[in-house]
Amino acid sequence: MCFPRKVTYMNKINVTHSCGNYNIYVGENILADALADVFEDKKYDRIFLVTDSNVNELWSEHFISELAKCAKELAGRFVFPAGETSKTLETVSDMYAAFAGAKLTRGSLVIALGGGVCGDMTGFAAATYLRGVDVMQVPTTLLSQIDSSIGGKTGVDLAVGKNLVGAFHQPIAVIADSRFLETLPQRYIDDGMGEAIKYGCIADAELFDGIADRSISRADMVYRCMKIKAHVVEVDEFESGLRMILNYGHTLGHAVEKLGGFTRFSHGESVGIGMLYAARIGAALGYDKSIEARIRASLEAWSLPTVMDYKKDELLAVVGADKKRRANEISFVLLDELGKATVKKLPLEAIGELI
Ligand SMILES: NC(=O)c1ccc[n+]([C@@H]2O[C@H](COP(=O)([O-])OP(=O)(O)OC[C@H]3O[C@@H](n4cnc5c(N)ncnc54)[C@H](O)[C@@H]3O)[C@@H](O)[C@H]2O)c1
Ligand SMILES: [Zn+2]
Repeated sequence: MCFPRKVTYMNKINVTHSCGNYNIYVGENILADALADVFEDKKYDRIFLVTDSNVNELWSEHFISELAKCAKELAGRFVFPAGETSKTLETVSDMYAAFAGAKLTRGSLVIALGGGVCGDMTGFAAATYLRGVDVMQVPTTLLSQIDSSIGGKTGVDLAVGKNLVGAFHQPIAVIADSRFLETLPQRYIDDGMGEAIKYGCIADAELFDGIADRSISRADMVYRCMKIKAHVVEVDEFESGLRMILNYGHTLGHAVEKLGGFTRFSHGESVGIGMLYAARIGAALGYDKSIEARIRASLEAWSLPTVMDYKKDELLAVVGADKKRRANEISFVLLDELGKATVKKLPLEAIGELI
């Protein structure tokens, strides 16, 4: 995956929320130290592991052996078939049965070891079982490390749409060891890179440059992205304001993702293209005109797609049906400059004219 390697130390980010606070542990090869730190403070009567079939094969043995050094033996393990199609109430229902079989109590801990599917679904099961047991997030994909494991949004998909059932349930800790990414297939690295570039765009020009010239180490990149996400969710826990800037590139990105039937481009790749459209709209509105070219260069440096071949009308039809639409206006994220996001209300037609 060709990231420059350099020795990094464990970074800790503390996140405060309405019911308390938690630590995010991030760095390369930090799992053992992070687990030791978590369990020095917190004691549980039972610990239960949830993971998907791929991560179970690759990482659960290593994880369990590190856990055994500082916590008690696992009370049970639930492994579900990897993939978004498992993110359903049926799987959650099977998970509840496994929790009951392991005799979990309100004093137990559930650990989600895996990508965003595992984290979202396990978080939701933990939020609802016995009206709430603690959950620890151990994200193993780039996307889940820099995005889904932080902020407490949990949930599952319904047949009629993604993420329609869920709850806010903050983790007691997040451990993001970038060593897990060594086994991650390239397409999921690409997927996460779209979001990583987004963080640079909205909040950290130095991160943007480090990604664009590929000089940043994997662990540092993950750390800086997590820091931004942590800050944003701390300020706006329940998604009423600032969290909106995380949607940079997503309005048109979602349209690109949908028009490609969710197979032509991954979510992160679509967000990359969505950022190009957003930058173009920004330039037409008088914002910095160099941004589109700089984002394009960064996407190209990571071999991410930059094609913008959908017709305006096709894109607009999808954007018009988007849930973020209020009356005829859309809250659209733009960049004042690279590293600084702003939200503007734009009429739907204006988006069409400006693309
Ligand atoms: N809660 C939030 O705030 C939030 C934010 C963004 C996305 N999401 C959700 O996240 C999900 C997508 O997450 P994802 O991309 O991590 O998907 P995922 O969990 O399906 O993981 C992608 C694939 O990578 C495999 N994998 C995971 N870790 C691995 C590793 N270390 N080595 C090898 N293979 C590994 C998985 O088995 C799976 O096949 C979606 O359901 C999305 O809705 C949630
Ligand atoms: Zn996204």
